[in-house]
Amino acid sequence: LGGPYYSFMKEGDIMIGGVFSFHLTLLNDNLSKRYEDYQVAATMMFAIEEINNSSKILPGITLGYKIFDGCGSVRTAVRATMSLMNGLTQKNVLGKSCSTSSNVQAIIGHSGSSSSIGIASTVGPFQIPVISHFATCACLSNKRDYPTFFRTIPSDYHQSRALVQLVKYFGWNWVGAIKTDNEYGNGGMATFVEVAKKEGICIEYLETFSKNSKKEVFLKIINLLQTSTSKVVVAFVTLSDMEFLTNELLLNNVTGVQWIGSESWASTKSLATATNFRVLGGTLGFAISNAVIPGLKEFSLKIRPSDSPGWVEFWENIFGCSLTSQDKTVSACTGFETLRDVNNEFTDFTELRITNNAYKAVYAVAHSLHNLLSCNDGKGPFVLHYVKKVNFTTKTGENVYFDINGDPVARYELVNWQLMKEGNVKYITVGYYDASLTEGAQFVLNNYTIIWAGNKTKVPTSVCSESCPIGTHKAIQKGRPVCCFDCIPCADGEISNTTDSMECLSCPAEYKSNNVKDKCILKEIEFLSFAEIMGIVLVAFSFLGAGVTVAIIAVFFNHKDTPIVRANNSELSFLLLFSLTLCFLCSLTFIGEPSPWSCILRHTAFGITFVLCISCVLGKTIVVLMAFRATLPGSNIMKWFGPMQQRLSVCSFTLIQVTICTLWLSVSPPFPIRNMKYYNDRIILECDLGSVVAFYSVLGYIGCLSILCFVLAFLARKLPDNFNEAKFITFSMLIFCAVWITFIPAYISSPGKYTVAVEIFAILASSFGLLFCIFIPKCYVILFKPEHNTKKHLMGKMPSKSL
Ligand SMILES: *[C@@H]1O[C@H](CO)[C@@H](O)[C@H](O)[C@H]1NC(C)=O
Ligand SMILES: *[C@@H]1O[C@H](CO)[C@@H](O)[C@H](O)[C@H]1NC(C)=O
Ligand SMILES: *[C@@H]1O[C@H](CO)[C@@H](O)[C@H](O)[C@H]1NC(C)=O
Ligand SMILES: *[C@@H]1O[C@H](CO)[C@@H](O)[C@H](O)[C@H]1NC(C)=O
Repeated sequence: LGGPYYSFMKEGDIMIGGVFSFHLTLLNDNLSKRYEDYQVAATMMFAIEEINNSSKILPGITLGYKIFDGCGSVRTAVRATMSLMNGLTQKNVLGKSCSTSSNVQAIIGHSGSSSSIGIASTVGPFQIPVISHFATCACLSNKRDYPTFFRTIPSDYHQSRALVQLVKYFGWNWVGAIKTDNEYGNGGMATFVEVAKKEGICIEYLETFSKNSKKEVFLKIINLLQTSTSKVVVAFVTLSDMEFLTNELLLNNVTGVQWIGSESWASTKSLATATNFRVLGGTLGFAISNAVIPGLKEFSLKIRPSDSPGWVEFWENIFGCSLTSQDKTVSACTGFETLRDVNNEFTDFTELRITNNAYKAVYAVAHSLHNLLSCNDGKGPFVLHYVKKVNFTTKTGENVYFDINGDPVARYELVNWQLMKEGNVKYITVGYYDASLTEGAQFVLNNYTIIWAGNKTKVPTSVCSESCPIGTHKAIQKGRPVCCFDCIPCADGEISNTTDSMECLSCPAEYKSNNVKDKCILKEIEFLSFAEIMGIVLVAFSFLGAGVTVAIIAVFFNHKDTPIVRANNSELSFLLLFSLTLCFLCSLTFIGEPSPWSCILRHTAFGITFVLCISCVLGKTIVVLMAFRATLPGSNIMKWFGPMQQRLSVCSFTLIQVTICTLWLSVSPPFPIRNMKYYNDRIILECDLGSVVAFYSVLGYIGCLSILCFVLAFLARKLPDNFNEAKFITFSMLIFCAVWITFIPAYISSPGKYTVAVEIFAILASSFGLLFCIFIPKCYVILFKPEHNTKKHLMGKMPSKSL
């Protein structure tokens, strides 16, 4: 124990170092073997031999290697690095002026970020380049702390962003997160959380663990996985920690979790077994592109334990035997067993994603050394300078170079763990992420079917609240993350035409929201029109009234010489009938779309014709009162209220109203308006009164006259007159006043076009009241009881009445 374990070595003119983890821990047990890293080491040897054989690159120079085991421990990795740097020597190579200054010119490794940080900090001051094939921590891009660090795998800076894009793409905004407690997990997850927050993704929980964590930590994670509402879990976990967690998952039978894996474990062969598939099946994760390395398979399968002491333990583990005959508990092996029949990560050449990175790293060093030794640009003696500048194309056509931070171009494949018919787990490439493309186009999905956790083909959902449909807006639940919200329907007159909108938009004044609340539509326009039933009925009644009045005029005209017509001033009767006709017709001005003219006309015409009408009735009442006094002996009162005075009074009463109306029109005439205040969903076209005072003056004047008329008629009701006219006038005024008194509350409370209808109704009702009460009894006598229509009958009645 305590290492560093010196594993593989071959002498050469120029030495390249390697630090990998052949053991997960310092404990030497079977579980901790990492055959992936054995494959990476074999690839490094293969690449070096290829370069040695090649006449194009480093001709005449032999490359050698020294490979150490880091044992998954930072301390061991740093000690291995120290050993690699030991024995600094000055020696001229091929007599050229460029010199090499150390035993090892460059180091390949490590697979873990933490160990790579250790290595990079150790060699930094000595200007020795470190090229990692699998250390993804974004922290390593910091060239101030790690000036000699390079890598052939993209930084987690990109991976974290790619994971956010992936989570966002499938609409999961409520995810769990688990990370390893080291630079890799902390750094990667910090970026993920930061970017996810910007994209509106909420993290339900964020748990940290490592393989050395206490049992309770694992139990807590298991419990969270089983009970939390988010079914998608992003795991920024190193491979070795994920292996520990997977064992716990298997023990506790935690299935149905959709894992989103970081590159460290999601594209690593050792985890993707049929057993683990029960808990990790359907895992999605980013992996760097797969590759084919021609010749590697043949090279690797020819390896024998006799090649190097490093292979002995490997061989014994694979074949479960002992090469040294000391251990009697296990069977002995010959060292000539064939690797071809072995099925593990070392002999799997279909997934060479990480391995290819190591291959590229060795070539990057070789090309740099080549450039250095050719003194291509005459710059400094250090390989480091040439590694920064290296730019070459591999045999498989990949362009390799490092950016200013020592990182390669970030391009990932999205892989999905699927169980093949043969019972093995394969990574199926279902999409890719290319950081060099413009934002928004970086994440692309192929049309392969993704198999999700639990062998499902339907995309799982992982949201705290379902997205708000159009017509509603989000209301964040108090004290909870932004992804948990209620959907509140938009109020009337407001819309939201996108899902998940934060608030509803108000429609413009003339618009209202439709039923779904996703569009503003023009409000309906409301006014009492000639085309609707109510309009037609009112027009019909108004024409009926006018027609009846005209008919009565005709009857009276035909019988103008009969006593009943002549009795109480036929001139007033005809004027009254004429004004009643106008009253009926003036109701027509209230129907139809209001225009400036109809607005002016409707109130003034109504006011004037009604005053004309009431003044005629008033005239008649006064005549009855006067006529009674006239019949009293010695009275000459009739000459004070003869036809001349009657005309004059009617004219002056009407003139007052005309004056009020003229003032109204000149100061502030009525005008049409679009009333949007009363209803949210309709626009009422109506006439604004202009001056309310004027309107109530007009009404009030009519009211005063009619009350005066009513009082006088009431006083005269018992008086004997020709044909009980005062009684009928009293009755008609009663109807008139009743109609208009009921009109006021109805007028105030009926909205929109009903206001107008109520007003027309009041006009028609009061006109009909006057018409029927005053004229129908007379017509009845004229037409059906002509025998009563004689002077004698009329006169004969009087004395009997007066008794
Ligand atoms: C490199 O090739 C030379 C002959 O071309 C050989 O002698 C030497 O052993 C080789 N070295 C390696 C590391 O393969
Ligand atoms: C290098 O050359 C030797 C001898 O020519 C050959 O046996 C070996 O397979 C070559 N190695 C590689 C990796 O090409
Ligand atoms: C690397 O070289 C290729 C051509 O060989 C060139 O197209 C590419 O731009 C170079 N890349 C860099 C970063 O210099
Ligand atoms: C949503 O409504 C707004 C404002 O009415 C409009 O500008 C926008 O184009 C609409 N969007 C959609 C998707 O209909």
